[in-house]
Amino acid sequence: MEICRTIDDVRQAVKAKRMEGNRISFVPTMGALHKGHLSLIRRASENADTVVVSIYVNPTQFGPNEDFDTYPRDFESDVEKCRKESVEIIFAPGHDEIYTEKKYLSIGIDSLNGSMCGASRPGFFEGVLLIVNKLFNIVKPDSAVFGQKDIQQFQIISRMVKEFNHEIELIMGPIERANDGLALSSRNQYLNESERQAAPGLYRTLRYIKEQILDGVNNPALLIEHQKSELEAKGLKIDYLNVFSMQTLQPIKSVEEGGKYIVAGAVYAGRTRLIDNLLIEF
Ligand code: PAJ
Repeated sequence: MEICRTIDDVRQAVKAKRMEGNRISFVPTMGALHKGHLSLIRRASENADTVVVSIYVNPTQFGPNEDFDTYPRDFESDVEKCRKESVEIIFAPGHDEIYTEKKYLSIGIDSLNGSMCGASRPGFFEGVLLIVNKLFNIVKPDSAVFGQKDIQQFQIISRMVKEFNHEIELIMGPIERANDGLALSSRNQYLNESERQAAPGLYRTLRYIKEQILDGVNNPALLIEHQKSELEAKGLKIDYLNVFSMQTLQPIKSVEEGGKYIVAGAVYAGRTRLIDNLLIEF
């Protein structure tokens, strides 16, 4: 396994694998790897001969009051996990390598940014697109794997691939969960005991809403209001909880036959923001 710190090095490493005729799949991460990340790495290896993992805590996707400084970092353990999964190339650049000069350009996002996490984290998805666009141009993989856990991220990156003509197949990996249903996240490390106990409430609520919709509730507004109060009663503070169109990412008023929807929520357990979602396809 090669650990590349510079853009030149990773380009050389990928080029060498390509010369051997290898298909390249890419899993971008911010490190603190857990079983969710590892499931994406496995998904990537099913699809390619060489898996490249990037480990980079990207400063441009953190707001001024967010957790960039305290975001968990454990490079040695990440490297060992990648080794066990037979990752061939790790790209772990320093900030000077990625954000070198004064920036004159930025990527704007239209309505896909107006709801869900985009609404509550201004600048977040612009930062994500900036880094993912750079990483795609540096690694130039044949495919890249992202998690359904960050469904809005997946949909916005899909638009970027389409509109900016990246020749990259995007693959969505399912959400890996703890036994009690809590979606795995690097940020779960922040939870204290009582927050950790309350946290799976989000998943249970999403499941309940999905079941109700599949059972025929086609106007979920009241149901959602009620579920919000239940979550608040468990000590979770709601950022959003709603049913969104899979395509536009806008909240919907009623579900229709043939539609594709996302039941999604973001809550705070103490100071930790948790997100989760389930897909509904009729
Ligand atoms: P990070 O939060 O490290 O997540 C890296 C990838 O792992 C993302 O595609 C995310 O959706 C996926 N993931 C996280 N939790 C998961 C889980 N429980 N099950 C399955 N997959 C899971 O997402 C980012 O980093 C960054 O925004 C990044 C794309 C790397 C750009 O900086």
